[in-house]
Amino acid sequence: MRTINSVSELKDTVKMLKSQGKSVGLVPTMGALHEGHISLVTRCRKENDVVVVSVFVNPTQFNNKEDLRTYPRTEEADKRLLEAAGCDVVFMPTVEEVYPEPDNRVFNLGPVAEVMEGAMRPGHFNGVAQIVSKLFMYVEPDRAYFGEKDFQQIAVIREMVRQEGFRLEIVPCPIVREADGLAKSSRNVRLTPENRAKAPAIAKALMESVEYAKTHTVAETHDKVVEQITAAGMEVEYYQIVDSLTMQAVENWDDAPHINGCVTVYCGDVRLIDNIAYK
Ligand code: PAJ
Repeated sequence: MRTINSVSELKDTVKMLKSQGKSVGLVPTMGALHEGHISLVTRCRKENDVVVVSVFVNPTQFNNKEDLRTYPRTEEADKRLLEAAGCDVVFMPTVEEVYPEPDNRVFNLGPVAEVMEGAMRPGHFNGVAQIVSKLFMYVEPDRAYFGEKDFQQIAVIREMVRQEGFRLEIVPCPIVREADGLAKSSRNVRLTPENRAKAPAIAKALMESVEYAKTHTVAETHDKVVEQITAAGMEVEYYQIVDSLTMQAVENWDDAPHINGCVTVYCGDVRLIDNIAYK
């Protein structure tokens, strides 16, 4: 595995590999890697000749300075995990390398980016579009891998790809969970033991609601999930049941071919995110 810090070296390396006719897969991450990230790398390994993983805590997508400052950074452990997962190239740039000058691009990503995370975290998706578009320009991958844990992020990236005309395949990958159901997240390490014990109630409420939804309305299902998580001692920021492609709220189960429920929850002061497919 080769570790690359500079953009020009990354471009040259990928160009050389492509000239040999090799397909390239990209897995963008912010590091502090866990089995969720590694599942993306494993999938990428199976489907491409060359696996490129980026590890970069992207400042432009953090709308909370404290969250950026305290974001876990575990570079050496990340490298070991990536090497074991069969990664060929890990790109670990500095902020100055990626943003030699401020990125003033404003993406107009439309309704898909305006709801849920877009409404709660102003500027967040613009920052995600900035970094992911830069990575796509550097690597020009054949495929890029994203986790369904960040369900709305996939829809936003698809829209960015459509607008910018990138020719690549976005590959969504299923959520990897702890044995007790909690979606794996780099932020889970910040949970106090007491809050860590509460957190599995989020996934439990979502999973139980799938059965409940078969005999109840969208509104009833929404309320049930919120009540269950609240009763477990956490604060629901939002629960929205949405069209899985457009991210717009649905009123009835037959409003869209695919429907997901997306939740964000404060578990103590840690903001957790999860979602479930209803159909
Ligand atoms: P990060 O939170 O590090 O996540 C990197 C990728 O891993 C994302 O596609 C995310 O959805 C996926 N992932 C995280 N936890 C997962 C889990 N439990 N199961 C499956 N996949 C999981 O998302 C970002 O970074 C950034 O926004 C990024 C796209 C890298 C742009 O900076």
